[in-house]
Amino acid sequence: MFTKHLSKTTARLSINITSNVLRSASTKPGKPGCTSYNRTSPSVRNITNLSRVSARGCSTPATSFFTHPAPLRRHNQPGVADRLLLKDVQLDVERRQLVVSWDDGDTQIYPFVWLRDNCRCTKCFHPVALARSTYAHTLDVELLAKTVTKTQDGSALQVNWDDGHVSEFPSKWLREYRFDNTTPDQLLNVKYKPWGADVNLQFFDFNSILEDDQTLYDWLVEMVTVGISIVTKAPKETGQLERIGERVAFLRKSNYGPTFHVKAKMDPSNLAYTTGALALHTDLAYYINEPDIQMLHCIEQVASEGGENVVADGFKVALDLKRDDPEAFHLLSTYPFEFSDIGKDHYGEFLQRSRHPTIKLNELGEIEKVTISDHSRDAMLRSPVHLVLPIYRALNKYCKMLLEPENLLQYKLEEGNILAFNNCRVLHGRNSFRVIKAGGRQLEGGYLDWDEVFSKLHVLSRKLQNQK
Ligand code: OGA
Ligand code: ZN
Ligand code: ZN
Repeated sequence: MFTKHLSKTTARLSINITSNVLRSASTKPGKPGCTSYNRTSPSVRNITNLSRVSARGCSTPATSFFTHPAPLRRHNQPGVADRLLLKDVQLDVERRQLVVSWDDGDTQIYPFVWLRDNCRCTKCFHPVALARSTYAHTLDVELLAKTVTKTQDGSALQVNWDDGHVSEFPSKWLREYRFDNTTPDQLLNVKYKPWGADVNLQFFDFNSILEDDQTLYDWLVEMVTVGISIVTKAPKETGQLERIGERVAFLRKSNYGPTFHVKAKMDPSNLAYTTGALALHTDLAYYINEPDIQMLHCIEQVASEGGENVVADGFKVALDLKRDDPEAFHLLSTYPFEFSDIGKDHYGEFLQRSRHPTIKLNELGEIEKVTISDHSRDAMLRSPVHLVLPIYRALNKYCKMLLEPENLLQYKLEEGNILAFNNCRVLHGRNSFRVIKAGGRQLEGGYLDWDEVFSKLHVLSRKLQNQK
């Protein structure tokens, strides 16, 4: 949602780029319910010709993103090292660790304390709840292993502890949980595909998302990797986002309600509820946890010109900024802005306040999130005063780059379309419009969070793999 703080400049901000950006639908073989629209304008460079350096520096195809197993909590779940057998196991009592080698020549080290903490016997690990039933405060962190033996076939090892406890560890589980950082990181290996105005936008059929697991999976992968898509042929009435929410898990609520209704109102509690243009922004910047995915369902669209949505890939443009002006990138990723919103809506009065850098980096220095909201950007700026001008110069530069024609996609939603995008990556806005009759343009908006989306992806990944 946009915010209540009024700014006359927004109404004057009209983003004017080529209309009819998207043409020519083509159904992709093997992807039920998914079509692809290609921008045909020859003046725009093709994103596939750009070096495919993503925000995380990788370029794996979307379909292989979630094929590695979700956390192996049980010892007996299948893993990558199914057929590997133990060759040798040695106790290194002095260093309080076990040295394990396999028949493929690999050797790994496992600290005693970690092994004891991860014993999967029924006393230490609940076999149905699949959860540890021992506690950090009762763990004997100095406990020594007395003996270690491997089974004859080399598929497991047994540790006899000094206190009489016995633990068993399968070879494949030990290998999966090795400490040398070569196991795929399930939290940090998301690969983003950067895009510009010529993005090969993917279209997914609403009913197929609801009924077909593969379509739902493909759609969610698209949301993770590209961060934008259009859902087509949704019924032209409210309540459809809840159906998608329930298919994934549940929608994320906000102070504007379980969903929000974007239409021109006489007493707008939000700038979105006017007929004015909305500058590029991310929603709910004034939340500490901003919603991750936003969906805008077009129920009614103006027939006359105007009301088009505009979007840009904030990650791609941030990488361009990093390349062109590392100092500006550094300032935007270091110094936060504060955001606030005050008003009254679905759940009563609210006063939201939070703080975000424009470009948030993760612990590896990769781009994790972008936050821009001119309307809710607060006057409070807790940065050194001598950096205020350089920070504003950097913000101004980044925002101008986002609006460059090669970065900005304009798309006029048709009734029954749902524009879905990563709210923490894709900046979105709209052109102003004129309404002749009451209503005129009506959208229902709703949010999803990554927690539910990634959980669904992991569940679907396993289910679809088992069906093969
Ligand atoms: C919003 C918003 C876009 C639109 O409500 O936050 O961005 O097309 N709306 O009205
Ligand atoms: Zn918005
Ligand atoms: Zn145990």
